[in-house]
Amino acid sequence: MASSLHYLFLCSFLIISSSTAQTSFRPKALLLNVTKDPSTLQYVTRINQRTPLVPVSLTLDLGGQFLWANCQTGYVSSTYLPARCRSAQCSLAKATACTTECLGPPKPGCNNNTCALMPDNSVTRVATIGDLGSDRVAIQSTDGRNPGRVAVVPNLLFVCGSALDGLAAGVMGMAGLGRTRISLPSQFSSAFSFPRIFAICLSSSSNSPGVIFFGNGPYRFLLNTEASSNLIYTPLIKNPVSTASAYTQGDASSEYFIGVKSIKINQEVVPINKTLLTINREGFGGTKISTVNPYTVLHTSIYKAILKAFAKALSGVPRVASVSPFGLCFNSTSLGSTRVGPAVPQIDLVLQNKDVFWRIFGANSMVQVSVDVLCLGFVDGGVDVRTSIVIGGHQIEDNLLQFDLARSRLGFSSSLLFQQTTCANFNFTLSA
Ligand SMILES: *[C@@H]1O[C@H](CO)[C@@H](O)[C@H](O)[C@H]1NC(C)=O
Ligand SMILES: *[C@@H]1O[C@H](CO)[C@@H](O)[C@H](O)[C@H]1NC(C)=O
Ligand SMILES: *[C@@H]1O[C@H](CO)[C@@H](O)[C@H](O)[C@H]1NC(C)=O
Ligand SMILES: *[C@@H]1O[C@H](CO)[C@@H](O)[C@H](O)[C@H]1NC(C)=O
Ligand SMILES: *[C@@H]1O[C@H](CO)[C@@H](O)[C@H](O)[C@H]1NC(C)=O
Repeated sequence: MASSLHYLFLCSFLIISSSTAQTSFRPKALLLNVTKDPSTLQYVTRINQRTPLVPVSLTLDLGGQFLWANCQTGYVSSTYLPARCRSAQCSLAKATACTTECLGPPKPGCNNNTCALMPDNSVTRVATIGDLGSDRVAIQSTDGRNPGRVAVVPNLLFVCGSALDGLAAGVMGMAGLGRTRISLPSQFSSAFSFPRIFAICLSSSSNSPGVIFFGNGPYRFLLNTEASSNLIYTPLIKNPVSTASAYTQGDASSEYFIGVKSIKINQEVVPINKTLLTINREGFGGTKISTVNPYTVLHTSIYKAILKAFAKALSGVPRVASVSPFGLCFNSTSLGSTRVGPAVPQIDLVLQNKDVFWRIFGANSMVQVSVDVLCLGFVDGGVDVRTSIVIGGHQIEDNLLQFDLARSRLGFSSSLLFQQTTCANFNFTLSA
């Protein structure tokens, strides 16, 4: 019985995909725009989902497992399909739970015999349980220079979640780009058979959006800068233990970790406990990149060492009282400025060898908290942090980060300000 149900379902799934394939086309790359919410500092994107299509605002979660959205209020769609327990979709999603019976009338998020996952609000770290389902998603294609025709994914998997507290106003869920088979990059790549590559370029301004590209470059910014032309590559590292708020034992983390080996300030090595830089068997330690932390969060001992070294390197500049959540602030009238922000010591995250480093300049290290006060934009995470270094939003703005899932590597551009462009300089005018 179970297997014939399974078979029937697969058949209808195939018919749906082949009939809609005629109305869509096969783009080489897709894009989303992403705007920084000024009050929460979250990066918010919007997808068009359902039939009829409605815009759904979502907080970007770079390491998030999948797209989750609220299904409880006003979800109306003729193309929603629940994922039946033990179906191909449930196994792709690694769903182990099954809602055998949902009390109440059937609707998205409440269906009998549907597999369930744990959508995670990674801002507040509250996870709920929600049904896996699929629906139609329309997204703009791109040639890397402008947005182009809209492409349709007839059956994009997502999870119904309800933990919206703490997300930016108007947001209905989170857009997970993490290392799973059902994250947005994985699903877009398999829907259109383009490489499992995506890139993010976050704008530092709330007034003009940055961009996420799904697929390979070009990634072109005004005036005619190819942001992927000078990338430096480092391996992505797998954390064997999930870092989600709730998870099943044995799950690996869906977040993107890189191997920081040491930190230098103005070329001098900062003394830090190396043990904290490696991921241990319980999944503690290491360095990850996050879009839900507005600033880099450090283990207390690393935080203290960096502040000390940075203050020493800038000892000629008058310090002012620190402004929470930061611990090291300066009178900016005494600091010069450069093309890449305030003239402060460079911070290098040294990676797989001494010649490969991620150099952080003033625009990404310093935060302007008032007219004449600039603070080092790193915060103290405490001594019990799960991950020792969480590279946050401010530190990756106006940098292009390309994630190559097939090759398990990160390509990073360092500050695009050097190339006289920014992440806000993508030309969002529709191509003719
Ligand atoms: C951003 O994307 C949304 C959804 O596709 C669209 O409605 C909006 O016009 C876009 N904004 C820009 C600046 O392109
Ligand atoms: C689930 O199945 C029960 C028993 O067949 C039925 O009464 C109920 O309406 C169904 N619920 C949903 C949400 O489909
Ligand atoms: C370095 O960190 C590890 C992990 O937290 C800890 O067990 C060890 O005691 C630390 N070593 C020193 C010298 O502080
Ligand atoms: C910064 O320095 C200027 C010039 O010396 C001074 O007028 C201003 O009050 C200082 N600001 C702070 C916050 O100390
Ligand atoms: C932006 O793209 C449009 C459409 O291709 C083009 O007409 C326009 O010249 C571009 N803008 C700039 C500043 O290059």
